[in-house]
Amino acid sequence: MAAINPNSSTFNPVLFGSLLVFFFFLPATQAQPNSQLSPGQILADGNTLVSPGGIFELGFFSPGKSTHRYVGIWYYNFSTSTVLWVANPVSPVLDTSGSLAIAGDGNLVVLDGRKAVLWSSKLGSLPSNESTAELLDTGNFMLNNSGDTVWQSFDHPSDTYLPGMKVGLDLVTNVNQVFTSWRSDDDPAPGNFTMGVAPDQSTQIFIWEQGKPRWRSGRWNGQVFLGIQNMVPTYIYGFKLNNFEQDKKMYFYYSQFNSSHRYVLMPDGIERHLIWANNTKNWFQFWAQPVPQCEFYNRCGTNATCTDSADGNSPTCSCLKGFERVNGNSTGGCVRRTPLQCERSRGNTTAGGGGEQDGFYLMQGVKLPDLSYWFYGPSDESQCEEACLTNCSCKAYSYATGIGCLIWGRELVDIHMFSSGGSDFYLRLAGSEFDNSKKGIKGYVIVIIVLSALVLFVGAIFLLWKNRSRIEELYRKLMKRQESLVDRSRSGGDESRGGISTVIDMHEEGKDGPPDVPLFTFQAIEDATASFSPSNLLGEGGFGPVYKGTLPGGQDIAVKRLSRNSGQGMEEFKNEVILIAKLQHRNLVRLLGYCIRRDDKMLVYEYMANRSLDGFIFADTSRRLLLDWKMRFSIIEGIARGLLYLHRDSRLRIIHRDLKASNILLDESMNPKISDFGMARIFGSDGNETSTKRVVGTYGYMSPEYAMQGLFSVKSDVYSFGVLLIEIVSGKRNSTYYNSELSLNLLGSAWKLWNEDNVMEVVDSSMRNSCSIREVSRCINVGLLCIQDRANDRPTMSSVITMLESENYVHPTPRQPTFPADISTSGTNSSTSDAKFVSGNASITMLSGR
Ligand SMILES: *[C@@H]1O[C@H](CO)[C@@H](O)[C@H](O)[C@H]1NC(C)=O
Ligand SMILES: *[C@@H]1O[C@H](CO)[C@@H](O)[C@H](O)[C@H]1NC(C)=O
Ligand SMILES: *[C@@H]1O[C@H](CO)[C@@H](O)[C@H](O)[C@H]1NC(C)=O
Ligand SMILES: *[C@@H]1O[C@H](CO)[C@@H](O)[C@H](O)[C@H]1NC(C)=O
Ligand SMILES: *[C@@H]1O[C@H](CO)[C@@H](O)[C@H](O)[C@H]1NC(C)=O
Ligand SMILES: *[C@@H]1O[C@H](CO)[C@@H](O)[C@H](O)[C@H]1NC(C)=O
Ligand SMILES: *[C@@H]1O[C@H](CO)[C@@H](O)[C@H](O)[C@H]1NC(C)=O
Ligand SMILES: *[C@@H]1O[C@H](CO)[C@@H](O)[C@H](O)[C@H]1NC(C)=O
Ligand SMILES: *[C@@H]1O[C@H](CO)[C@@H](O)[C@H](O)[C@H]1NC(C)=O
Ligand SMILES: *[C@@H]1O[C@H](CO)[C@@H](O)[C@H](O)[C@H]1NC(C)=O
Repeated sequence: MAAINPNSSTFNPVLFGSLLVFFFFLPATQAQPNSQLSPGQILADGNTLVSPGGIFELGFFSPGKSTHRYVGIWYYNFSTSTVLWVANPVSPVLDTSGSLAIAGDGNLVVLDGRKAVLWSSKLGSLPSNESTAELLDTGNFMLNNSGDTVWQSFDHPSDTYLPGMKVGLDLVTNVNQVFTSWRSDDDPAPGNFTMGVAPDQSTQIFIWEQGKPRWRSGRWNGQVFLGIQNMVPTYIYGFKLNNFEQDKKMYFYYSQFNSSHRYVLMPDGIERHLIWANNTKNWFQFWAQPVPQCEFYNRCGTNATCTDSADGNSPTCSCLKGFERVNGNSTGGCVRRTPLQCERSRGNTTAGGGGEQDGFYLMQGVKLPDLSYWFYGPSDESQCEEACLTNCSCKAYSYATGIGCLIWGRELVDIHMFSSGGSDFYLRLAGSEFDNSKKGIKGYVIVIIVLSALVLFVGAIFLLWKNRSRIEELYRKLMKRQESLVDRSRSGGDESRGGISTVIDMHEEGKDGPPDVPLFTFQAIEDATASFSPSNLLGEGGFGPVYKGTLPGGQDIAVKRLSRNSGQGMEEFKNEVILIAKLQHRNLVRLLGYCIRRDDKMLVYEYMANRSLDGFIFADTSRRLLLDWKMRFSIIEGIARGLLYLHRDSRLRIIHRDLKASNILLDESMNPKISDFGMARIFGSDGNETSTKRVVGTYGYMSPEYAMQGLFSVKSDVYSFGVLLIEIVSGKRNSTYYNSELSLNLLGSAWKLWNEDNVMEVVDSSMRNSCSIREVSRCINVGLLCIQDRANDRPTMSSVITMLESENYVHPTPRQPTFPADISTSGTNSSTSDAKFVSGNASITMLSGR
């Protein structure tokens, strides 16, 4: 407006009044957002309450695409995309004229534009008609009346779990509170899914779909839920079960509040733990259930087990041992093949037992079935077995740590076979079920072995004789092809990549299209490494020597010449290499190609300018000073990420089995890259096995169960990672360091010093000035958790990363590690006597007697 029109400058009392109100009230409300609603006060749509610490906000919102208005609570910082409680999910205000108020009778009410009550806290007659409501920094909205809290939002949960909530089963009234999913992202009305504790007091958490079980957590053992795979006590925040006998209410809670975390039962029926990623500005899913398929309640039916496929989407169902499909009907249930002895003799006075005694069949790695019965009394496994055997209705038992004797007297439902972790489960079967298998072994195995060996031998001779000419021809063809490739690279056909060609298909050339992993000709490798000249030798690992090379185009490479005893054929080797070459991650050394010449197999990697980590952390020179705390921490993080990729995110799910400082290479910007992964596969043991004849590893890094029993899992890698972490922080080698003052090895003394708050004593003296004691202490704490003696007590790599990266976790205290670093000095067991030592700190390969 350019000028004031004098004609219109008449005094307008209404305008003046509203301006006055505006100027009078605005500064006051801006200075301090209100967290309280007092008697008679009205919170209109558009205004909000904010908790005193600025964490939560309460007001009207419209979810998703909806235009309806609901009263809800959300994270102040994340706005209405994070609504975690809704007052009036089924009775929204249809426009923006609604309000929240304390009514004349002291109740909290949501009103529409015409002041009709849409929702109320419905408390009946209150001591006084003057109530106050307040939004707290816990996210709880509380209504006080005459000095007492008469109503709170925590007692009426929506879909989100917050610390401080006591949602559970009231043991007096038997009322079970549950979380309820929204109907959809646009509609907070109750959906089909609810979540809460099991009403039978079995200390499990359930998700129900329209009242039918959809997922269960398995029993709580005091530290973890037994039915959640790989849940370790260090699992985020640590849930706890309250003292329900004292409280007369059973609920789980967690205490550590963090506004960057949410536990939400989503409209699709999946409970998700979401964490805010500050760098990418979104909520990422840290954990979700039920995922995979076998986690869906009783996915495979009663008396059957469910085993997940690699992608988790196509599970395999099988009958329990000793059970069979009804009349061979593959969709019907499974029933017992041979009745139990006690069943047969029941009510038969003449029989006197009849037949052999029932026995127990051990199943390992099981998500224990539902409907177990906690049998108070037995104090060890054999008493538990006895208790089961003497009760004819007992179908199975398990002796679980932290719980005791569990027996199953009803149906066996919801059995998931975990790929790692899980419990031992003893299934009761008729005695004859065992005899059959024993007789089978005794009677037939030898005959079968002899026969099949004979058949194989004759067959092989026959084939060789028949195909002799064909094999020779193939071989000649291969050699010729290799020569021609050398020629092509020499004549500059492919200058930049010198000597690289596509893989030769050993059978029919070019039929499946060219795979994308380059095969180097032997000639090209020889040229690049100056015929494997000793001056190009970078080092010697457990799998063979590594040479530096330079391709004609100028690119540096590292060539690993595999020792000959890999026991793999050419074809197998090629397949493994192609698989491994597909693993790509910034913290893994990239495989560029491979080379085969007769027995000679070589892997070609990118060359890492700064070589291996042990050349820095264990060095006496200035190289050690180069690594300040910041750099060491980022190296630790990088290794953890690379390992997580191998364990969880890559298609192959690889267990490294020989993680150590000399297998961590550093590029020119000191980024760590894991090398030698996939070796276990190349050397002929399937990554899915849980035990192996061939123990590959390095003393000082091997987990107890691996070194002594040959058992390995991702948790063995976690152990090695823990050792490596402590080596990086301390600058000392686990295999050689001994603290004579404390009479302890590196791990033992790290634990002791850390436990006594002497953290800086653990830290490498060259970087004591550059590090923050908090960070380094947290780091050592994580390292110590990784080297726990029992694999189950160690965290997974994903928890390791979360713990490393978050500042305010209260980590559980690790127990003292007891496993000696150098098992070769502490009593030789039979399996180490035939070990083959390569050198002091090199990998060993040994055959253990399993
Ligand atoms: C909200 O965000 C601000 C700025 O990003 C931050 O300083 C504050 O700590 C956050 N508050 C909470 C409770 O996370
Ligand atoms: C409470 O009740 C008294 C007496 O009935 C009444 O005078 C007063 O206005 C009421 N207060 C409110 C906030 O409604
Ligand atoms: C409401 O009552 C609780 C105790 O019952 C008290 O801690 C809280 O401060 C009260 N709030 C208000 C706003 O009076
Ligand atoms: C709830 O289940 C019923 C019956 O299975 C189905 O018709 C309905 O679409 C489901 N509702 C939601 C929100 O998924
Ligand atoms: C998150 O990022 C913002 C800016 O992007 C920053 O101000 C804040 O401190 C970060 N918060 C945390 C917890 O790192
Ligand atoms: C197999 O069992 C299912 C479920 O019990 C039943 O519906 C079906 O008719 C059976 N099929 C045959 C061929 O018996
Ligand atoms: C499971 O096996 C038991 C024992 O044979 C049998 O009584 C029961 O009917 C079976 N359940 C189902 C659902 O087939
Ligand atoms: C009782 O046991 C005897 C001997 O084992 C057997 O012959 C008979 O059939 C059984 N009777 C019943 C009712 O199971
Ligand atoms: C046998 O087991 C069932 C449950 O499996 C239990 O209810 C019953 O009390 C047990 N009987 C005895 C004598 O222990
Ligand atoms: C909350 O969690 C985030 C992400 O995990 C982490 O960065 C932050 O440090 C945590 N804050 C507190 C107070 O624990």
